[in-house]
Amino acid sequence: MNKGNIADKKPAVIELAAGTYHWCSCGDSKGQPFCDGAHKGTGFRPQQVVLDKPAKIALCNCKQTNNPPSCDGAHCDL
Ligand code: FES
Repeated sequence: MNKGNIADKKPAVIELAAGTYHWCSCGDSKGQPFCDGAHKGTGFRPQQVVLDKPAKIALCNCKQTNNPPSCDGAHCDL
């Protein structure tokens, strides 16, 4: 699978409540780092993120990570 478009060259470091989220893998969402449905017709799919407790996480915004949905530092090479 190809990587998505670069939405930003830094991760979204955010605190999230427990719940289910959908990380944007295509890079086209206007509501980064989450899916807004903009992937339709691109072949990309959002990745579900399930948190059973609140957590501070770094979600990839460059969409080049090899460990989605988490940032792996790939943006440093862009
Ligand atoms: S908008 Fe990017 S995966 Fe849905």
